[in-house]
Amino acid sequence: MGRMRIGYGEDSHRLEAGRPLWLGGVRIESPHGPVAHSDGDALLHAVADALLSALALGDIGQLFPDTDPRWRGVDSTVILAEALRRVRAEGYRPRQVNAVVTLDRPKLTPHRERIQERLAHLLALSAGDVGLSFKTSEGLAPAHVQVRAVVLLEPLPQGPGGVWTA
Ligand code: C5P
Ligand code: MG
Repeated sequence: MGRMRIGYGEDSHRLEAGRPLWLGGVRIESPHGPVAHSDGDALLHAVADALLSALALGDIGQLFPDTDPRWRGVDSTVILAEALRRVRAEGYRPRQVNAVVTLDRPKLTPHRERIQERLAHLLALSAGDVGLSFKTSEGLAPAHVQVRAVVLLEPLPQGPGGVWTA
């Protein structure tokens, strides 16, 4: 049995009127959204960085450089899936994720279950293993979304012949 690993990630985007707001792979009705090269899903970016960091695999900026036109407007579930693929290739899988989203508006509480379920689905976890808290900046950063995330990884179970399963 290998060791558990912990990873931490952060992401931040400036918000502008009229742009779509994506968080955790969920489109949230909002008066503003992130200015970003990709779809700007700060929650998926922070979680993807946490996954990579848990195994010292670098960060998503290395995998998906914002100077590369291929990644313009990219769906961030693609970024998360690539981080997850690399984690599995190292013989690990997520066991738990915890994130704090700092955003003044809109209110995210009405969207909590949808975000939790979507993120759980993307990481092959149950919703109870996805902890989310939402915070305002108390008006200090009204045009800013920031996410901080930690993940816990566990070794993949070993099947017959020592081949990783799941
Ligand atoms: O940041 P603050 O402590 O004032 O947040 C108060 C409440 O508002 C919290 O319960 C939080 O879950 C909720 N909230 C929210 N959407 C946000 C920010 C905070 O639902 N964008
Ligand atoms: Mg980002």
